[in-house]
Amino acid sequence: MRFDQRHLLGIEPLRPDEITTLLDLSEKYVTLNRQRDKRAGTLSGLTQINMFFENSTRTQASFELAGKRMGADVMNMSMQASSIKKGETLIDTAMTLNAMHPDLLVVRHPHSGAVDLLAQKVNCAVINAGDGRHEHPTQALLDALTIRRAKGRLHRLSIAICGDIAHSRVARSNIMLLGKMENRIRLVGPATLMPAGIAEFGCEVFEDMNEGLKDVDVVMMLRLQKERMDGGFIPSEREYFHRYGLDAQKLSRAKADAIVMHPGPMNRGVEIDGTLADDINRSVIQEQVEMGVAVRMAVMDLLARNLRARPKEVLV
Ligand code: NCD
Repeated sequence: MRFDQRHLLGIEPLRPDEITTLLDLSEKYVTLNRQRDKRAGTLSGLTQINMFFENSTRTQASFELAGKRMGADVMNMSMQASSIKKGETLIDTAMTLNAMHPDLLVVRHPHSGAVDLLAQKVNCAVINAGDGRHEHPTQALLDALTIRRAKGRLHRLSIAICGDIAHSRVARSNIMLLGKMENRIRLVGPATLMPAGIAEFGCEVFEDMNEGLKDVDVVMMLRLQKERMDGGFIPSEREYFHRYGLDAQKLSRAKADAIVMHPGPMNRGVEIDGTLADDINRSVIQEQVEMGVAVRMAVMDLLARNLRARPKEVLV
């Protein structure tokens, strides 16, 4: 089992065998999480600080649960109430926390690249919990685990990623991960929601949902990221649902056993029909949440092993 990373800043630096190592270890935590006694001492003695500069429900809750189940001392910093509001820079805040000797720092930030920058200034392991529209590696890993469990493999699948690709860090991390594992990726959405330089992604691009979903194994829907839009990317939500919202009729174009995914939070009736999202025969949205805790446990477990293998650096 080899995992050579000091931080988890993105999917980009990971090798396929490291991804497999992570997913295999996650399976052990899925089993643990289904037991009455969910404790493991893996992070015993270590301190985990969660710094969320953007709102989060699933990601923050699962990192907190993951750390607690593995015996870490977990602290959630309320960034709304922090000194950032008084004008302290991100780096000053990070250096202050660093002086308290955390071992794992979990960071979500609205600016792309902010988490990489922070990782250069601290001497603990840093995990990117989403930076702007750049990367959200643990989301892509939990999506991969969900797909592997549902389909029995994580290669040679046809996967449609649909909707607001331009603003989505989930899409970017998934494109990288699923590409590394040799799947066929289709990006489906209006031209206004496709990122610049789309050709470099090496994916097939479709503007028509009925064409884009034809015979795919996996349909991954994305939230319309209204907070990252400044102006008219779509005519109206009604029109968007009509053309790009996933419903039973559009899903009928995919393979009969295709699964439906969404990272949450969902806008029901905008990017996905509410009844379909709740259909346990097609939708794996709740499994994604369950896999989220297990994957975050595996990530912190592997980073902690690497931390323990290094001599402790003295602060300067
Ligand atoms: C995603 C995120 O924050 O990037 N959500 C999540 O982590 N579950 C997707 C989104 O906000 O739409």
